[in-house]
Amino acid sequence: MKNFTFMLAPMEDITDSAFRTICHKYGADTTFTEMVRIDPLSRNNAATWSRLEFKDSTPVIIQLLGANEPRLKKFLKLFKPHQGFEGFNFNLGCPSPQVIKLGQGCAMIKRISKTKKLVNIIHDYGYNCSIKMRLGMNKFEKEKKIYLNLIDAVDADFFIVHARYGAQTYKEEPDYSVYEECVKTGKKIIANGNINTKEQVEYFKKINVNGIMIGRKAVNNPAIFNELKGLKSPNLETIKKEYLELAEKYNAPFKYRKNVLKHLGEKDEEYREE
Ligand SMILES: Cc1cc2nc3c(=O)[nH]c(=O)nc-3n(C[C@H](O)[C@H](O)[C@H](O)COP(=O)(O)O)c2cc1C
Repeated sequence: MKNFTFMLAPMEDITDSAFRTICHKYGADTTFTEMVRIDPLSRNNAATWSRLEFKDSTPVIIQLLGANEPRLKKFLKLFKPHQGFEGFNFNLGCPSPQVIKLGQGCAMIKRISKTKKLVNIIHDYGYNCSIKMRLGMNKFEKEKKIYLNLIDAVDADFFIVHARYGAQTYKEEPDYSVYEECVKTGKKIIANGNINTKEQVEYFKKINVNGIMIGRKAVNNPAIFNELKGLKSPNLETIKKEYLELAEKYNAPFKYRKNVLKHLGEKDEEYREE
């Protein structure tokens, strides 16, 4: 990992190979797949495996959702790393009620021993493993600082902390005041939530956060990473054309192209919840 890393966030039905490649070209040091469920992967479901088709060597981390250890092992036995693959990430942030009902997504933040076991399994296979998390499921869990217990106890390579709790919508402000305590754990911390200015980047560098992750603003402008690094990029029309060419070449599903084109070039847009 670089001294300070710029990451493209995992986004369902958006961050396929074509979109990840464009963001990497314009400054994202690493990228993530959308969340992929472990259970269908372990059953060798072709549609789920197709989300793990990588068309080039863009750096990518595969985000997994699930909590079943034997199924995780079964999947890992089937998995073959490819060029650009940098490791796995566990989704401990998804606030969808169907996911929470299974004790997964942001309901996993307090399941520390389960999370430890899952991370250890990935490490035993020789792969890096990070965590992407919210601050808890609700205000109560956030106030109890359960996120710090998890960061303290789990031996992940880094922790991406989306500074909201599960019940919060994107309309509510993320709480950046949590990061100083997260950094004090001595673990590598990546900040996420509404990041899009150089001032924010400077602030996170100052408090020794190890990097930032950008989601929605990267769909509006895939070159935001270069902009925040002070580097030049072509205009958005050119980037849109390049994206479309790649989407064509990589046979990107229509749904992904539609979702990207809906937001690319827009200044501000309401997105659906995570
Ligand atoms: C359309 C959409 C899909 C998302 N899908 C995922 C996902 O698959 N996995 C995940 O961890 N987060 C997902 N997220 C959350 C983002 O990764 C990110 O944490 C969130 O958007 C806050 O960052 P931002 O303010 O830079 O957008 C999604 C967000 C959006 C808007």
